[in-house]
Amino acid sequence: MCVARVVIGKASDVPEGTMRKFEAGGRDVLVGNAGGKRFAIDDTCTHAGASLAEGRMDGGSVVCGWHGARFGCATGKLEAFPAKIADLGRYEVDVSESGEMSVEVPA
Ligand code: FES
Repeated sequence: MCVARVVIGKASDVPEGTMRKFEAGGRDVLVGNAGGKRFAIDDTCTHAGASLAEGRMDGGSVVCGWHGARFGCATGKLEAFPAKIADLGRYEVDVSESGEMSVEVPA
């Protein structure tokens, strides 16, 4: 599979303990900063389509603001929900020496 590295902003756009939605290569990607470690996963909840950027971070997890599905920040995998729903896509996120932040998405 071909991938493209897409610059989405500056590292300072996502301070520690926050997360934010970015558009990258036609996808909505949620980029967060959990304890100084950045992660990038799909922003759209696989249950009913909520933007996970409107949810919250809880330790190493992202919790959907609509019905509470919990996904791993680092993996995108479903951690807790009453029904089986799909995992989220996960993307490589990188910060350059100049502070430019990018994600790697399928091209
Ligand atoms: S839309 Fe996310 S848990 Fe229902």
